[in-house]
Amino acid sequence: MKDFEFYNPVKVFFGKDQVAQITGQVPAGSKVILIYGGGSIFKNGVYDRVKSALKGYDLTEFGGIEPNPTYETSMKAVEIIKQKNISYIIAAGGGSVIDATKFIAAAALFKNGDPWKILSEGAEVTEAIPFGCVLTLPATGTEMNKNSVISRKSTQEKMAFSVPPVFPKFSILLPDAAGSLPQKQVANGIVDAFVHVTEQYLTYPVNAPIQDRFAEAIMITLIEEAPKVYAKPDDYEAMSNLMWSATMALNGLISCGVPGDWSVHSIGHELTAFHGIDHARTLAIVLPGLWKTLREEKKGKLLQYGERVWGIKSGTEEERVTAAIDKTEKFFQSLGIGTRLSDYGVKKDTIDRIVTRFEERKWLSMGDRGLTTPQVTRKALEIQL
Ligand code: NZQ
Ligand code: ZN
Repeated sequence: MKDFEFYNPVKVFFGKDQVAQITGQVPAGSKVILIYGGGSIFKNGVYDRVKSALKGYDLTEFGGIEPNPTYETSMKAVEIIKQKNISYIIAAGGGSVIDATKFIAAAALFKNGDPWKILSEGAEVTEAIPFGCVLTLPATGTEMNKNSVISRKSTQEKMAFSVPPVFPKFSILLPDAAGSLPQKQVANGIVDAFVHVTEQYLTYPVNAPIQDRFAEAIMITLIEEAPKVYAKPDDYEAMSNLMWSATMALNGLISCGVPGDWSVHSIGHELTAFHGIDHARTLAIVLPGLWKTLREEKKGKLLQYGERVWGIKSGTEEERVTAAIDKTEKFFQSLGIGTRLSDYGVKKDTIDRIVTRFEERKWLSMGDRGLTTPQVTRKALEIQL
């Protein structure tokens, strides 16, 4: 096991009766802004529940955060926050609303020029407006981590940042509100959470059995719950299990002391930046392609994964690796998610653009042991054409 530091200060409230907890968490006298997306919170009752918990606070509202939240929209919220001297933010919705809130919270106090530098240059973030989250969509894990992914429309870029000041102060997880999700978003959530686990697990063995078994437990749970919650998003118990799995998949626990490989996400973000494909769907394309390309280098973990997660025990090593990759791709497809670029009308020219971009950014050896070179990225995408 490698050396590690683990810190996660997010207070979690889980379950359908927890919205009222907001009142005890937001300091009295705060000037609050409620940030939300395109309106789902009005349909599933979350808006009314949050409003009633915020009774008595000086409250401003900012709606219209889009899926794959943009710098452009976020900066409009920053203006309002500065004008009104807002001191606390409540984010209500999915990962996009929470990610936008993290960027807004940091940008509003950023004193070093254009806040885009937080994303493009990794400019230092020393402070952020405190915020709490009300989560209605299980997928990203953003409710319990310090990451945020923001897109810039004008340049077709999608970039991430990760800094401690943007840990939420608290997060309220609402499986009942997630019951109103369309099947497509439930499928996205399952795949995103699953790939978060593989990004921290499917590297090479380092004798970290606790982390491996935590990771395998999350994947097995996702595989078991997926058909139930996909068929019936308002199955409260199945949705609860999905929601907690997704949170646990990316709150830092399973990455302690193990190598990571976030290259599936890095490549996937480019597919969203160029074509607007849903985040999880990009992962479902890239992951099988990357594993097929790096099957030799990742063989140790692929065999362990195949055996412990999918029960693949017979056949030669080569056959078992092939079966593990095949099972994973079929799992994504069973949720109505295409795993080929052609399923989304994407052609070879996009592969050229992505590879050129990585070369320009000098992203020449990403991920696990630096294995994801531009050539590997090209091959991984070509396999999935
Ligand atoms: O905008 P509204 O009207 O709220 O509708 C949303 C949106 O259209 C809707 N929705 C949310 N909760 C609902 C609901 N509809 C009905 N009932 C509900 N209960 O679902 C749509 C998608 O929402 P979005 O927030 O975009 O989805 P998700 O949570 O999957 O977030 C995706 C974003 O998170 C980033 C992705 O790149 C993407 O931009 N990620 C963030 C990560 C992080 N911060 O750690 C890690 C991930 O890898 C990921 O990159
Ligand atoms: Zn993701």
